[in-house]
Parts: sequence; C-alpha cells; structure tokens
Amino acid sequence: MAFPCLTKPELILLPTSLSRMHRHPETEAIRIQTERTGEQEHSTPLFLTSSFVYQSAEEMAAAFADDSLDVNIYSRFSNPTVDEFVRKICVLEGAEDGMATASGMAAIFATFMALLSKGDHVISASAVFGSTHTILTRYLPKWGIDHSYFDMRAPETIPSLFRPETRLLYVETPSNPGLDIVDIASLARLCRERGVLLVVDNCFATPAVQQPIAHGADLVIHSATKFIDGQGRVLGGVVVGRKDLIRPLYLFIRNTGPSMSAFNAWVLSKSLETLYVRMNRHAESALFLAQALGGHPAISWVRYPFLPTHPAYEIAVRQMRNGGGLVTFELRGGREAGVRFLDRLRMLSMTNNLGDTRSIASHPASTTHAKLTEDERQAVGITPGLIRISVGLEHRDDILADVLQALAD
Ligand SMILES: Cc1ncc(COP(=O)(O)O)c(C=O)c1O
Repeated sequence: MAFPCLTKPELILLPTSLSRMHRHPETEAIRIQTERTGEQEHSTPLFLTSSFVYQSAEEMAAAFADDSLDVNIYSRFSNPTVDEFVRKICVLEGAEDGMATASGMAAIFATFMALLSKGDHVISASAVFGSTHTILTRYLPKWGIDHSYFDMRAPETIPSLFRPETRLLYVETPSNPGLDIVDIASLARLCRERGVLLVVDNCFATPAVQQPIAHGADLVIHSATKFIDGQGRVLGGVVVGRKDLIRPLYLFIRNTGPSMSAFNAWVLSKSLETLYVRMNRHAESALFLAQALGGHPAISWVRYPFLPTHPAYEIAVRQMRNGGGLVTFELRGGREAGVRFLDRLRMLSMTNNLGDTRSIASHPASTTHAKLTEDERQAVGITPGLIRISVGLEHRDDILADVLQALAD
C-alpha cells in the first residue's frame, strides 16, 4: 500500500505529557517510531528513497519556498527514517532538536562550519580524537579560526584561555583513548558566564551513561559508529541540543551534503532499542576486567572511570551512570610489549573501531598515533605501552582469559 507521505510522518509519542513523564529513556529508545504505514508493519519501516512526491505543483512550490516547513523534499535535507533516529537521540539526550550526519567526523566538522565565523576562537581539550585535532589545527586556520588547547588533567588553566572572540569550548569526556574526564557542569558555568557555547563529544559514554545537556552543555555530538551502532556495521554521526543552534546546522548540512543515509539511520535506530542493556553489560564486564588486571606484574597502571584510582573518579561517579565500556592500561615493557600483546591475542580483535559486541584491543603508539612524535603522544596522554580495550559482550571470563594469556611471559 502506498504511503501518503506529503508531510513528514508523525513519530509515535504518548498522548499526554503526564504519561510521557512515566516513560523511561530505555522505553523511548524502543518505542519511538515513525507512524505505522498502511502495511501494518511492527518493526520500524525504512524509507529508502532519494526524494518525495507532491500532489500538486502548488504544494511542491510551497515546499521549496519555505525551508522551515516540516515537509520532506529530498533525503539530503530530511528523511523519515533519519528523523526517527534523530528524535530518539534527542529524547535520550534531553535535547530540543538535532541533525544526523554520515559519520562522527561529519557531525564535528558541520558543527564547526555552521557555528563559527572568520576571527572566532575555539578552546578545545588537547585530548580529542585525532581527526578532530586535524580539523582544529589544519583546516579551521584556513578560514581564520584560531584555537587554544587545554590539558584535561589541568582544567584550572581553562579560564586564562578565554578571549573576547572565543565562541566555543569543545571537549570529549571520557576522552579517546586516555579516558580523561572533566566536570561538564563546571565547564558549562565557565562558558555561560562568558556567552561561549559548550560542545561535548559524548561518543564514549552514550546517553545511556551520561547526558551532558543535563549538566549544562549546549550541544552533544556522537560518532554513532561506536556504541550507538554497537555491532560495527555502519558509520553515522549526530548533533543534538538547542534548537537555535541546530537550525544553522540543518541549513549547512542541507546545502553541503554530509547527510546520514536512510539505511544507516534504520540500522542505528534499531540499535538504540538495545543501547541501555548493551551499555550495562559493557560496563559490568569492563569494571570486572579493570579490577581483575589491577596489580598484574606486566602492567604499571589500569584506568577505568569507575575505579577509585582514576584521577577523576569523584567526577565520573557524579556525572556518569556507569564507567562505560573502555578500559586502558600501561604495559611495563612499553611499545615493544604493546606490539607483542596484540600479536598474542587469540579472541580479541585487532581493529580500528570500538563499541562493538566483539572485544577489541588497540595499541595507539604503534597504530593510530604512530605518526606523532613521542612528545606529541605524551601531550595527549598516549604512553608507549598504552593498551585500549573496548570491552564487548562476550562472556567476561573469556575476555579476561584472552587478555591474561596475552600478558603472560
Ligand atoms: C570520540 C570520537 N569522536 C569522533 C569520532 C569520529 O567518528 P567517525 O569515525 O564516525 O567519523 C571517533 C572515532 O573513533 C571518536 O572516537
């Protein structure tokens, strides 16, 4: 049966605000869905179409005349499946509005491009994902946008970095790969006093673990490629937050094209149905692994947000529901020991991703950050023997057994 899609299909929400108050985010992640089509499907439909049709020339002209109209035109601008995914993330993050993109990097780049102008200044944590670093240092200066870095482990230095032209403060917490953590609420206070936007990359935590907007962030960004997909299948990104900030992002994405594909949105929207259960299990196994590795003779330290030995443990337990799915540790034997550890793994995957059902090990010094100098690596917290484990959903004893046998003499 044809779907009369002249305007965007409604998302299914509860009828009264009172009943919505009783719905938990876990429920919303499962139950928010585009309006059922005439086919009466149970699982959410996939609108794999590039464009949308109109019943009259007048209707079509109206759709083009006003870009604030809630009408589908072309999937670079909007698509019901993508809207469903964005709506879910908005509800889970407590955001007013959002936009999805083809990848996490597209979300980050679009945010900078849509919100910054020539002469603006950005303050960013130095411990941000490598490509974010590249945007800040290599591309933004081409458009006259300057930046200053702060050390996540010395947030008291941040106030001295503000300038009259500072427009945005950017942070990842927990950071990749060092698992550094900052207090979002205190950053939000600093930013609010100065009229500066606070943008948080929440990729490592996901909204099931941490909601930066509740702590005062203006925008939250995700690489949906990680835990939101959760099974290593598709790329995606999303930015959610204040409606007035999402509007310029919508226009930037609509005109320049880093839009999310409807197929990827369908995969990601289905993945959100299991996000809360998965994140609980990732976190339980990660804490188990981190505790079990403490005191191992081959390891000098283990880092996990919910271990009391984490330098920002107090902040982590205040702003996160659990410690998330990543554990890092430092091998006493440095870089060589890191390479040897990876080679000896039997089950954990050696791959350039995280947030999968499958546990993944990586050694940043010999792979993702190998091109940096030793000093540059140290500056972003990447020590020679640093191992990052993305703890998957396999039985926790099997994950631990593989790590222990790879550590053995
Ligand atoms: C914290 C963080 N932000 C952003 C990205 C970029 O996301 P994508 O690979 O989806 O472009 C990554 C990728 O690993 C990441 O770890």
